[in-house]
This record gives sequence, C-alpha cells and structure tokens, in this order.
Amino acid sequence: MQTATIQFDRFNTLADEAAHERIRAARARLGDRAVLLVHHYQRADVYQYADLTGDSLKLSRLAGQTDAEYIVFCGVHFMAEVADILSKPNQIAVLPDLAAGCSMADMANLAKVERSWRELADVLGNPDECITPVTYINSAADLKAFCGEHGGIVCTSSNAPKILEWAFAQREKVLFFPDQHLGRWTGYGMGVPLEDMLVWDPDLPNGGHTPEAIRRARVLLWKGHCSVHQMFQPSHIIRWRNQNPDGFVISHPESAFEVCRQSDYVGSTEYIIKVIKEAPAGTKWLVGTELNLVSRLAEEVKPEGKTVQFMAPTVCMCSTMQRIDPQHLAWTLENLAEGNVVNRITVPAHEAALAKLALDRMLAVS
Ligand code: 13P
Ligand code: SF4
Repeated sequence: MQTATIQFDRFNTLADEAAHERIRAARARLGDRAVLLVHHYQRADVYQYADLTGDSLKLSRLAGQTDAEYIVFCGVHFMAEVADILSKPNQIAVLPDLAAGCSMADMANLAKVERSWRELADVLGNPDECITPVTYINSAADLKAFCGEHGGIVCTSSNAPKILEWAFAQREKVLFFPDQHLGRWTGYGMGVPLEDMLVWDPDLPNGGHTPEAIRRARVLLWKGHCSVHQMFQPSHIIRWRNQNPDGFVISHPESAFEVCRQSDYVGSTEYIIKVIKEAPAGTKWLVGTELNLVSRLAEEVKPEGKTVQFMAPTVCMCSTMQRIDPQHLAWTLENLAEGNVVNRITVPAHEAALAKLALDRMLAVS
C-alpha cells in the first residue's frame, strides 16, 4: 500500500547508527524486490550493503540481468541511466541522491557535440561516412543516443581497445568523448601516433584546429577529464619507485598519459582489483584510482602481506559518488518499502532506444 512520500529533511540530521538501523529494517521489508548495485568507488558505509558490485561494464551487464522490481544504484547518474535503459520495462532504477553526477560526464553535452559534428561536416563532408562517434559510458544518455543514431558506440574503461578497433573498422576517424585521457591511452595502445590524435576543444571554432589538421587526424579527443584522476602525477610514481624499487604501479586509464605510460599496469577498477588480488603475497603496489577503492583493497590484501598505497599525497575521492550516504540510502529504501518511488531515473523512450543501440553494439563487441 502506498503512503505519503517521506521527505528527506527527516533523514538529513539522522545519526549514522540510526540510518544503518533503518537501512537494515527497510531491506528486510523489501526482500528481493530491491537489488543494490554498487560501484567500486562507493564509500565503505554504503558499499557494505551491496548485493552486486562492479566496474561500469560489469554493472551495465548486471543491470540487464537482475529481476528485482527496484534497482537501487549506488553510483553516479549516468550509471543509473544505463541501468534504466538496459533493464526490463517493469523495473525501476533509482539513484539515492540525484546530485550524484559525474563532473567528467558534464564536460560534454548534446548541443556542443552536435555543433562539433556540424563543424566536422564543413571540413570533411558528411561525418556519418568518415567518423565513428565513440562515447565513454561516463556521459549523459542523450550522447549515447547521438552515437546510436550516427553509427557509433559506447565504451568503458575495460573494453575501450576492442571498441576503438570496431570504430576504426567502420570508418577512418573517431570522435571520442568526453575523456581525452582514456581516448589517447587507448589510441596509443593500438599504435595510433600521438600526433594523429588532436584535442578537440568544443569551445573553440573547429575545436581549435585548421581544416588541414582535422583532415590529417585519426582521433579527435574531446577536451574532458576526470577531476579525481587528474590529481595523479608522474612525480608521485618516480618518488614511490625510488623508495620501492621492487614495487608495482597500477593506474586507471582516466589518468594522464604520462601516468599511464609510467605504470606497470593500466585498467578499469575491476581490473585493478583483480590484478592486486591475484598478485603474489608480499608484493607492494602504488594505485592511481579513487581513494575509497584503494583503501578497501589495502585492507583486503593486508593479511597476505601485500601493501597498497594511494598514488596522490592529497585526499581525492569521487565527491559526487560520495553523496550517496547512509542517510540517502535509508530514505530511499524506506520510501520504496512504503510503496513510494523516489529519485526514479527515467530516460525518455526515443532517447533510450537510440542509446540502447549504442550500448548493445558495445555489449556485442566486448
Ligand atoms: P570503471 O569503468 O573502471 O568502473 O570506471 C568508472 C569511473 O567512473 C572511473 O572514474
Ligand atoms: Fe566521474 Fe571521475 Fe567520479 Fe569517475 S571518478 S564518476 S569519472 S568524477
């Protein structure tokens, strides 16, 4: 039975322990009607409630496989949108705090991508015939729809090389948005020379380039980045290696090119966890990705004598994902248990169909 929606104000000042009690009570009432999908960057006091965890690719697949009525996404907005697009029509995706966005995703929007596409058309002729648009999954649903409509595709940090190969098999050039670093690292790994990859600044005419430079380029890298991963510097690696010459460095490909180049391993959050968990006992690791993941992993592998250190000297978390706290989770679950759907994420049907096209291409390729 549905009751009046419980307002968040009443949860804002709730002490942590009280919030945890209410989460446990609401989950018991909901049973298997709600599934909690939780990204690896989620804070520990929320991560503990995960039914399923993963990186962006794994969570996208899981969203399409669960049968629960409510998919409560403890992650950021674009992830909940993907859950809505890939889940069944009778399922409901919910994001406990609507302010949990992704600053990188916000660096590209449809108006700017469409304007760039028109500028490219002026230089190259019909871009649908010569450029494959590739959007990182860290982007709004309308950009995924743009890719679906223009013969493009979505990628994540764990399948980017396969996706770029697919993209080049379709057409000779790629427009990659919104993360220049993932695009550059992936292109470089495929053997595309750095000088053939241009940074496309959407706020400048023609991305800041001459028509000749655009005609020569193979990859156009949108000028976007992750505010967390930009904190990692090659100097952090050099200093650590001086003190730990037998240690290993592993980074997420959203890190700057030089950081990736100086790392022993580069890969998605799921990959980072797998490599360190499978490493021999006693090994030492410097990790360039978000702090919640690194701290959790350090504790998990400590009993095997492995040491895991965060790459930056300053604290840098995904501040937007951090907004999903026990208070918001308690509020969301209690409302769902009462029959009130709060913070539902719904992608409009036309947009969802085109975005699904690009996501399905990705899932088929990866
Ligand atoms: P993953 O694909 O590794 O989960 O990365 C998502 C993300 O947002 C990293 O900042
Ligand atoms: Fe976005 Fe960066 Fe947070 Fe990942 S870590 S969700 S890219 S802001």
